Amino acid sequence: MKDFDGKVALVTGTTGIGLATARRLAAGGAAIIACGIDRAANAALKAELESSGAGALVIGADVSVPDQVRDAVAAGVERFGGLDIVVNSAAVHPYGTAVSTDFETWNKAMSVNVGSIYLTAHFGIPEMVRRGGGAIVNVASVQGFACQQNVAAYATTKGAIHTLTRALALDHARSGIRVNSVSPGSIRTPILEKAARGENGTDADVEAAYKRFGEAHPIGRIGEPEEVAELIAFLCSSKAGFCTGADYKIDGGLTAGIGVK
Ligand SMILES: NC(=O)c1ccc[n+]([C@@H]2O[C@H](COP(=O)([O-])OP(=O)(O)OC[C@H]3O[C@@H](n4cnc5c(N)ncnc54)[C@H](O)[C@@H]3O)[C@@H](O)[C@H]2O)c1
Repeated sequence: MKDFDGKVALVTGTTGIGLATARRLAAGGAAIIACGIDRAANAALKAELESSGAGALVIGADVSVPDQVRDAVAAGVERFGGLDIVVNSAAVHPYGTAVSTDFETWNKAMSVNVGSIYLTAHFGIPEMVRRGGGAIVNVASVQGFACQQNVAAYATTKGAIHTLTRALALDHARSGIRVNSVSPGSIRTPILEKAARGENGTDADVEAAYKRFGEAHPIGRIGEPEEVAELIAFLCSSKAGFCTGADYKIDGGLTAGIGVK
C-alpha cells in the first residue's frame, strides 16, 4: 500500500516544484489533477503520467481566473470521484519596486500567487469536506520572511501566503483539513533560471549564477525541486496528521543566520 493510494491531488503549476510534486504524489499512488498555463509543460506532464499508468487529468488553466479553477476542480472530481489534496505551486515573479511596478503587474502577482490559493480553497475545500478531510500545501518562499530588493510585489505575495495558510488552517481544522506552507530558498527551476539570466534575460551563464546563489546558502548549493516535493508529500500524507497552520522552511540554512560565510 502506497501513501497516496486512493487519494486525488490537485497541483497548480506544471513545471519546477509543481512538476516534481505531481510526479512524487503520482508515484505515491495519487490520481493527479494538474493545472497550468504552460501548454508545452502540460502536454509533457500528461504524456509522462499517462505512460506511467498514473490517473491523470492535466488541464490548461489560468489559476487566477475563478471559472477556470471552478471548472478544473469539477472536472477532477467528476473523473476521480473527489478531492483530497491541493498543492498550490503556480506563481509569477515580477521584478520591481513599488515605484517601478505598474498596477497591472502588481494585481497580476496578487491574483496568480495569492488569489489562486483562495480559489482552490473556495472551490476545493467543500469537496475535501465531502471526503471527510484533506491536506493543502501552499508554496510560499523565504521572501515571505526576509526579502531581496526589487521584488516588492512578489515578496508581498509570499508574506500573504503565510497568513492565508494560517487563516485556512484555523477555519477548516475541525473539518479535518490541514493547511501548511513550505518556504524554499533557491531551487533549480524555471523561475530561478529566469533570475539567473538577470532581470533583462541577458546573463547567459546560468550554472555560474546557480553556483553563486548556492554559495549564499550555508549548505553551499541550491536545492532541487525533488527535495521540496518530498517535504510537500510528507505534509500531504497522514504521517503529518498533527501538522497544520505552519510554515516549513527548506532553504539550506539561508534564513538561520546573519552574514554567514
Ligand atoms: N525556484 C525557487 O528558487 C523558488 C524559491 C522560493 C519559492 N518558489 C516558489 O515555488 C513555486 C513554484 O515555482 P518554481 O520554482 O517551480 O518555478 P516555475 O516557474 O517552474 O513554476 C511556476 C509555475 O506557475 C505557472 N503559472 C504561472 N502563472 C500561472 C497562471 N496564471 N495559471 C496557471 N499556472 C501559472 C507557470 O507556468 C509555472 O509552471 C512558486 O510559488 C515560487 O514562487 C520558488
